[in-house]
Amino acid sequence: MFKTELDQLQWRGLLRRMRVLGSAAGRKVKVDGEEKLMFASNNYLSLAHHPEVVAAVREGLDQWGYGSGGSRLMCGNTEVHEHLQRRLAEMLGKEASLIFPSGYAANSAVLSTLAQRGDMIAVDKLVHASIIDGARACAGVLRAWPHRQTEKLQRVLARGRHRRAFIVTDTLFSMDGDKAPLQELVALKRRYETILIVDEAHAFGCIGPKGAGVAAEADLLEDIDIIVATFSKALGGSGAFVASSREIIDYLINRARGFIFTTGIPTVNCLAAEAALDVIAAEPYRSERLIDNGEYMRRCCYEMKLNTGVSESYIVPILIGAAERSMKVSNILWDRGFMVPAIRPPTVPPGGSRLRVSLMSEHTKEDIYRLCQTIKEALKAS
Ligand SMILES: Cc1ncc(COP(=O)(O)O)c(C=O)c1O
Repeated sequence: MFKTELDQLQWRGLLRRMRVLGSAAGRKVKVDGEEKLMFASNNYLSLAHHPEVVAAVREGLDQWGYGSGGSRLMCGNTEVHEHLQRRLAEMLGKEASLIFPSGYAANSAVLSTLAQRGDMIAVDKLVHASIIDGARACAGVLRAWPHRQTEKLQRVLARGRHRRAFIVTDTLFSMDGDKAPLQELVALKRRYETILIVDEAHAFGCIGPKGAGVAAEADLLEDIDIIVATFSKALGGSGAFVASSREIIDYLINRARGFIFTTGIPTVNCLAAEAALDVIAAEPYRSERLIDNGEYMRRCCYEMKLNTGVSESYIVPILIGAAERSMKVSNILWDRGFMVPAIRPPTVPPGGSRLRVSLMSEHTKEDIYRLCQTIKEALKAS
C-alpha cells in the first residue's frame, strides 16, 4: 500500500533510516561495533552522560521509582516537578512554568490551545515543525514570513485582519545555526500589541546567563510573553517546559490537550534537568568552549571554502544543495569515522540539502579541523 511511495523516496535519495547506537551519544560513539566521532548530537554540553546528572537519576530512582503513573492532573505530579517548574520560571523571570513530555508536545499544545478563531499565528518560515503542527491544529490562520525578514512580518501585522496575533520564532534556528532578530520582533510586538512566543530549544543551557537563552542574553525576557524550551538538547535529558504568566500557564493546565491527556514525565527526568542546570551554572567553561568551537569551525570552513551559510553558533551547516550529493558526502564521512547527518527535504526546503554539524563542548580543535578537511575531500570525491 505504501511501497510505491517508499520506492519513490528511495529513488529521490530521501529515504530515511535510523542508525543504531551501542553507546551513549557522547563525542565518541559505537555504531555496529565501530567507533565514530559524533557530530550529530544535540547533547551540546555532554550532560546526557555527566556523572552528576547520572547520579541524580540513580538516586532519584531509589526514592521515586521510574514512571510517574498518570497524567499530571491525576497522580503524575510530584514535589520534584513543582520545584523544577518554580526554578525554571524564576530563571526566566516569569510567574510560572509548566512541564510537558517533550518540546514537540509543548509547542504544539501552546499554539493549538491559545490561538482561536479569528486569530493569526505569524511564524518565521524556518521555525520547528512542532510549531507549524500546533498552528495548523488551531482554529486561527497561519502566516509564515520569509526567514528573518521582519519587514514582511510587519506588512502582515499592519493589514490587521485578525482578532489577536501571535508572533512565533525559534531563537536559534536548528538547521541554519543563526539567531532570530529578537530586538526587531519585540519592537513589532509592542507596536502591534501581539503575543510573542519564542522557542529556545537549541539555545537553552548554552547561551545567555546560566544558559537562560538568547532572550536572556539580549535582556529581552520581559518582552517575551511565552518561552518554550526543552530538556532534550543541552540538558541532555527528556521533557520540556513553557514559561509565562500565571494566567497563561493556568489556561494551559485547563485547556491544553497535549498536557491534560498524557502521562507526566518521570520524576527522575526532572531531577536530571535540575542536576544539568546545576552543572551549567557551576561549569560555565562548557558553554564557553562550545561557542568557541563554533567560531573555530566557521573559521576552518572559511579557509577551506566550505559554505556554512548564515551560521553564527555551534550548529554549523555545510550547504550542499542536492539531497543525493549530501547523502553521498555523509556516507563518505561515515566510512572515514565521522557521524554527520545529511539533512534533506522535507526538513529543509528542496535544493537546501546539507550536512548539519552540531558541535559539542567536548570536541577538540583537532576533531573539528579533521572533520573540515574530510568534508572538503568528500565534496571533491562526490
Ligand atoms: C526548535 C525545536 N523546537 C522543539 C523541538 C522538539 O523538542 P523535543 O525533542 O524535546 O521534542 C526541537 C527538536 O527537535 C527543535 O529543534
